[in-house]
Amino acid sequence: MEYAIFILLAYLLGSIPSGLIIGKLGYQMDIREHGSGNLGATNTFRVLGIKAGSIVIVIDILKGTLAASLPVIFQAEHIYPLLIGIFSVIGHMYPIFAKFKGGKAVATSSGIILGVNPLLFVIMVMSFLVILYLSKYVSLASMLTGIITIIVTSIQQDIGLIIVTSLLTIFVIYRHHTNIKRIIKKTEPKITWM
Ligand code: G3P
Repeated sequence: MEYAIFILLAYLLGSIPSGLIIGKLGYQMDIREHGSGNLGATNTFRVLGIKAGSIVIVIDILKGTLAASLPVIFQAEHIYPLLIGIFSVIGHMYPIFAKFKGGKAVATSSGIILGVNPLLFVIMVMSFLVILYLSKYVSLASMLTGIITIIVTSIQQDIGLIIVTSLLTIFVIYRHHTNIKRIIKKTEPKITWM
């Protein structure tokens, strides 16, 4: 029963559609009708600029961090934080507050890692930035960072983290299927600022 409450709380946290809220409140714009149509930080940067994008990425990361921290906050040591965190990513991808059309799992997944293993989060951010610098594709950097994270957790031999990062990376790659098609067709937009 206690697990169910934590799972529900994590899902509702993840469901907060930050890109939609910031777009509508600050810019009277629905970012789902512009750019890639995605309700994530990348599309918020693309459509609304650096200020809105920065706010959305911070909120989306914190959704995962907070969800994974719920067991600690409520002193429920027997509840597994990584498992609870996964449900914030499900909320982020399929938000109840935005007709179940959400983001691509990247920022909120990284937020879970920030909550349970900050050093791994730093490694992820560095991998992401290096791949982004080399490829100029945010989507490719997101997917490859997921794969690198699995490799790093495998070296650390942390079974729980290996399982959860593998699952999160599957979510990330699945949610990027349209980006993968565009990368193959060479129609995926590249960033120009790096
Ligand atoms: O985090 C999502 C990013 O990897 C791709 O977003 O808007 O280019 O599809 P977008």
